[in-house]
Amino acid sequence: MRTEVNVGGLVLRTPITNASGVLEWSPEAIVRMVEAGAGGVVLKTTTKEYRAGYAQPRVVKVPGGWLVAVGLANPGADRVRSMIPELKKAAGRVPVIGSVAGTSVQEFVEVAGMLEEGGVDALELNLSCPHFKGGGLEMGQDPAVSYEVVKNVASVVKVPVIAKLGLSDKVLEVAVKSLEGGARALALINTIRSMKIDVYRKKPLLGNKHGGLGGESIHPIAVRVIYDVYKETKADIFGVGGVKDWETAVELMLAGAKAVQIGSALMDRGETVITEVLRGMEKFLWAEGFEDVREIVGLAHRE
Ligand SMILES: Cc1cc2nc3c(=O)[nH]c(=O)nc-3n(C[C@H](O)[C@H](O)[C@H](O)COP(=O)(O)O)c2cc1C
Repeated sequence: MRTEVNVGGLVLRTPITNASGVLEWSPEAIVRMVEAGAGGVVLKTTTKEYRAGYAQPRVVKVPGGWLVAVGLANPGADRVRSMIPELKKAAGRVPVIGSVAGTSVQEFVEVAGMLEEGGVDALELNLSCPHFKGGGLEMGQDPAVSYEVVKNVASVVKVPVIAKLGLSDKVLEVAVKSLEGGARALALINTIRSMKIDVYRKKPLLGNKHGGLGGESIHPIAVRVIYDVYKETKADIFGVGGVKDWETAVELMLAGAKAVQIGSALMDRGETVITEVLRGMEKFLWAEGFEDVREIVGLAHRE
């Protein structure tokens, strides 16, 4: 069974990676992902300066997934740049994808440049993080701003740029503009803005009050967004949202994703989920008479 895919110029030996934010900054974590069969590894989102992140609690299990408000805690672009060579070494031939966020176009450009200097193989622009005050939320919901960010980054870096978008009424428009700006691929979708209330304290549970919902509860939404965006654009897409087994992964690919990313299920079950999804997908494809995983991309669109 051929499992290699090319997403936006990035060659992945399997169509499965982790989603940004769920992998520690450690060579050991990357080795575990690679050994489990990941076709790529995605780093946590990096901002220019160190960010401590939001007040605790930051993560809470809810029915159908996780509600998170981490606040893009990260060591800052300088430190991340210096860690990349070691992370790349741990990944071997598996591509390492950096993730970038900023509060201005300039910050996106600077951080992207620094991660490229460190040696990442591609850059995912987190245009949609629903809990980044004054930053990602506004940018990713505004087609013109998304265009500016992508265009400015894509014109200065050599590695492929992936625009990661969140759910909004304008997601199709933002996707089109991001591609016009030079994005080689899209990652759809980020977490969905949500809340949980502690009934005893009678207050929002998360330190940041609002959070982002990921996990199986958002899967049908991801299917819909990927289907709609693929139909209009035929873009290279990383499908993200509620992948927990081979069937949820295959659904995103039938909708149009060339590869999938796994977030919440990795938090639940660790990297064995990657191996399980991969094995299950291969078994399904074989049983259905396919020889190459690329044959199913966008198949749900045929008349
Ligand atoms: C704990 C946690 C941290 C996350 N941090 C980031 C992040 O730093 N950057 C980002 O683009 N997305 C982040 N996300 C969103 C995921 O990458 C993914 O888009 C989302 O969780 C949907 O996928 P899932 O349903 O498989 O969890 C985070 C998600 C979780 C659960």
